[in-house]
Amino acid sequence: MCGIFGYVGTKNGVTLALEGLRRIEYRGYDSAGIGVFEKNKLHCYRAVGKLENLEKVVQGKSSTTVIAHTRWATHGTVTIENAHPIMDSSKAVAVIHNGIIENFQELRAELEREGVVFSTQTDTEVIAQLIAKCYEGDLLKAVQVAVATLKGAYAIAVLHKDHPDMCVVACLNTPLVIGVGIGENFVASDPNAIIHHTREVIYVNDGEVAKITADKVELFDSAFVKIPHKIETLLHNVEDFSKGAYEHYTMKEIHEQVQSTKNAMYARFFEDYGTVVLEDLHLKPDELLAVERIVIVACGTSLHAGMVASYLIEELAGIPTEVEISSEFRYKNPIVQKGTLAIAISQSGETADTIAAVRELKAKGAYIVGLCNVVGSTLAREASSCLFLRAGPEIGVCSTKAFTSQLVVLSLFALMMARLRYMSKVDGQKFLKDIAEIPEKIALVLEKSHQIEAIAKKYAAYENFFFIGRRYMYPSSLEAALKLKEIAYVNANGYAAGELKHGPIALISETCPTFALCADALTYDKVLSNVMEAKARHSKTIAVVYEGTKGIKSIANEVIEIPNTRDELAPILVAVVCQLFAYYVARLRGAEIDQPKNLAKSVTVE
Ligand code: F6R
Repeated sequence: MCGIFGYVGTKNGVTLALEGLRRIEYRGYDSAGIGVFEKNKLHCYRAVGKLENLEKVVQGKSSTTVIAHTRWATHGTVTIENAHPIMDSSKAVAVIHNGIIENFQELRAELEREGVVFSTQTDTEVIAQLIAKCYEGDLLKAVQVAVATLKGAYAIAVLHKDHPDMCVVACLNTPLVIGVGIGENFVASDPNAIIHHTREVIYVNDGEVAKITADKVELFDSAFVKIPHKIETLLHNVEDFSKGAYEHYTMKEIHEQVQSTKNAMYARFFEDYGTVVLEDLHLKPDELLAVERIVIVACGTSLHAGMVASYLIEELAGIPTEVEISSEFRYKNPIVQKGTLAIAISQSGETADTIAAVRELKAKGAYIVGLCNVVGSTLAREASSCLFLRAGPEIGVCSTKAFTSQLVVLSLFALMMARLRYMSKVDGQKFLKDIAEIPEKIALVLEKSHQIEAIAKKYAAYENFFFIGRRYMYPSSLEAALKLKEIAYVNANGYAAGELKHGPIALISETCPTFALCADALTYDKVLSNVMEAKARHSKTIAVVYEGTKGIKSIANEVIEIPNTRDELAPILVAVVCQLFAYYVARLRGAEIDQPKNLAKSVTVE
């Protein structure tokens, strides 16, 4: 949440900053701002709303030192005053910040008692005022002293009016990366913002403070001692950030799933042997055989992928598997017995709650397998092994292709664990044959776009939906409901179909259509009974079924068929149907699809 970009060099940093912010705007888009030096004087320009509003404000401006920010509001409403950079009262210090300062109220009260007058509602202003207070000619020292009093999470970049050639940065529990160039240096909350300028980077660790000038980067630890820094090389490609021929990134990414699922499985299995080889999993077969229990931590869509995986792993490999919401797990005192393997799933690799859960699991001695899309992210660096999704950048804030890639990789993982235990070679071969067919089956689902759009047209005006399913279709129903909520702003409940009669059925009526996810052969008849129950209460019913399912057309108002596959893999195909439905409903309702209100792509605050 909140994107940070900084530059010190000889080029026009304003242009570079706008370009950098564009690449990380998905981190927040409530407002944007930039701090510059014009004729050696510090100025801040800010605009509410999308980056294009800031672009208009700074047209023609130039500065060789800049800090720039795109905001996801935490403390303080979305106004110009609360947009970053935030300055202290004397306008000497400008700060951009990603994170939350938990003790900001007491720090603010203390400063106010000393006579400091605050002009914003942000926690960030406390940082700016503190740095100004601590400043005695040395910006580095002022930042070091100020941040020592902060509790919570922060990545900050700071400019001071007396130092037009310098930027000071610091972080705690929030990612920050310095890009090292020749005669120029960068800072960003995400390597994506700077990779097209330099591949040489320094990851700033918790508690460290860095002083950045055009030709030097100096790092200091929390005891203010200068420390050597390790320069790492970003190995991943400069990704394609364009929308191509699509109106929205979300639709582009829905269509990319034919290729992204192929990438996720590429060179990761041998069909002939019915086995899986995950080269980035640094565990030997005897270590994998020693796994007695699996704990999965994740949030949102990644959590839903984890839920599907728990069914898969228990069913195929017979290993007890629990799925935990990261934000709940981090405040438990989890029992991590010998033989526990932890899997942390996060598209961004930056979700604060998942990272905290990982740290807790590590502290308890668990081996962490990360499942992540972003190379160089915090999860990728902190996990003991990291399996990459290879889905390419997911720019649409709502997760689509990352989900289906997560399901592919988790299916392969489950199969690997199963083959190491009880599954026969023949069963392994059959499973792999089915998984290899998934990309072409996704293409067949995409061919149904017109039918799904037509159904969306009929139902776009409804304000409430139920998505129901059993077994593998239960997490699928949660994911489908989440998509509709987040991009179409329509209230949707995902529910285990069997639970409907334990309360929520009271809500079912002609004003609330029921989307029944029936692509689960084992429970099909049971879900059909639930469809009948919904129908009896005048709910319109939309059924997603396997191709050729008999009798359903006379029961459900709408039927969407998906190609036949095994139940374990059906969530991938059903996800594409539900993504398309949510997309079309959102478009018909005129919703902001790629950047839904109140959301951000990387949830780096609690
Ligand atoms: C929903 C969505 C979110 C994310 C969640 C976790 O479409 O995008 O629910 O899935 O914020 O994000 P990651 O996977 O980056 O940890």
